[in-house]
Amino acid sequence: MSRGVRAQYDVLVVGSGIAGISAAITAAEAGLSVALLSKEADAFDSNTGWAQGGIVGVSPEDSAELLAHDIRYAGAGANFADAVNLVVSEGPQLVHDFLAGRVAVPFSRDKSGALELTREAAHSVRRIYYAKDSTGAAIQRALLTYLAKTAGVTLLTGHTAIDLITNTHNSADIQERYRRTKVLGVYAHCDSAGCVRTLLARSVILATGGPGNLFRHTSNPDGATGDGVAMAYRIGAEVIDARYVQFHPTILFHRDSRQFLITEALRGEGARLLNHSGERFVPRYHPDGELAPRDEVARAIYREMEQENSDYVLLDATVVDIDLKKRFPGIFEHCKALGIDIRSQPIPVVPAAHYFCGGVKVDLDGGTSIEGLLAAGETACNGVHGANRLASISLLEGLLWGVRCGRNVAATLPDADARLYATIPDWVEPAEPEEFDPVLVRQDQRTIQSTMWNYAGIIRSRKRLLRALADLDYLSHRIEQFYRSATLTRQIIELRNSVLTASIIVGDAIAHPQSSGCHYVE
Ligand code: SIN
Repeated sequence: MSRGVRAQYDVLVVGSGIAGISAAITAAEAGLSVALLSKEADAFDSNTGWAQGGIVGVSPEDSAELLAHDIRYAGAGANFADAVNLVVSEGPQLVHDFLAGRVAVPFSRDKSGALELTREAAHSVRRIYYAKDSTGAAIQRALLTYLAKTAGVTLLTGHTAIDLITNTHNSADIQERYRRTKVLGVYAHCDSAGCVRTLLARSVILATGGPGNLFRHTSNPDGATGDGVAMAYRIGAEVIDARYVQFHPTILFHRDSRQFLITEALRGEGARLLNHSGERFVPRYHPDGELAPRDEVARAIYREMEQENSDYVLLDATVVDIDLKKRFPGIFEHCKALGIDIRSQPIPVVPAAHYFCGGVKVDLDGGTSIEGLLAAGETACNGVHGANRLASISLLEGLLWGVRCGRNVAATLPDADARLYATIPDWVEPAEPEEFDPVLVRQDQRTIQSTMWNYAGIIRSRKRLLRALADLDYLSHRIEQFYRSATLTRQIIELRNSVLTASIIVGDAIAHPQSSGCHYVE
């Protein structure tokens, strides 16, 4: 191990949300040396930290069969049965024992100290652990505290992974080109040093989150640029189900607030969606009304907005019979600061890109189609969500597959190959780099966002998708040229990943003309 440009670990974990941290803890507790990379200066800043609603835990009202039924119902029956069986049989207990127990996440409890349970759309019973309305932040904080006490983990913040290092793509030994591809580490841009580091490892786990920020409206942070999917795709890993981008029905619509989620738990407690005539419209589209699966509710809102020619609908929480300020303090304060008292006024909301049900294809232990590469969380697709994810299953999946990836690498770690590592060159910057122009990069990112929102969004058509692919092709050519000639920054790396991941999503959508779950083609 070294702190210079070149360093070597047993395992590299890229991404510091629930999946990445759980994988890092598990691998380190098995005695491996682990580096955990975060693009952010503070590892707290991840998609996990933004999750509001909750995570499925252990409920006396629940059973594995009932939970499996709800996951399949939300997923339009396109789920992988083995993955569903694994989640329902191991997931809730792991949340209880590991998160609520060992990691001591401060989930909301009643006066007797018992864990409170809430409900969200398409759940048959109350089975969701939550921490008021900032469950993700409570989990992320507790996991980072636990991680800091775990020996063997080096946390590398401000490190943006550029590409996976493999023998076939990067080795100076040309013999390696003819061998089977195996992952040997990552090239990562270090923001503070302004250099690219060669981080070598016996296994790499991708847990970089999803691609929400490829869409104009999203509940995700800016860093959700599909990095893991793009990196894995570039080395030939299988990516599946990329057409399944889930849109959350209720993101706050306000000029001064982007990306603020209004948790589904509010509808779980009884809040209703109204159009501008004050009519409760969702039951016209689906018999389960506001508690129908997310894709159905998002489409109902989209249609209603089209009919009314409006930019938003209204979420009325005034009818909810609980203390909103106490139960949803984050939403209460955020809205209040914008002049909306949710106890007496409806909340303007729009659907927005929320979760990627597709991703790098993995097995039940997080293994991908490439040797030495694993993936977990939103980056990965193990088939559990099928065509549309059930609420409060994402953190659960991230935790379960994170832990399983950690166990998998501990059980199967290949020997470090010093001869092969020595053939991997360090990164070479262009001799006369093109100047970085933030305006050009920002505009390209915005073009991707509006292309994806307008042509590959909640309601798609073949014509729109073909237009999207053509526009992305053109953009991709320009971005790749720029990437090769510029001194790298995090923004350029993200832009390159964004355009590739967007093209993968659109390509998969074109290849599947039948609507299913959150992939809806007119
Ligand atoms: C929410 O709180 O509505 C989001 C929860 C989820 O995506 O599972």
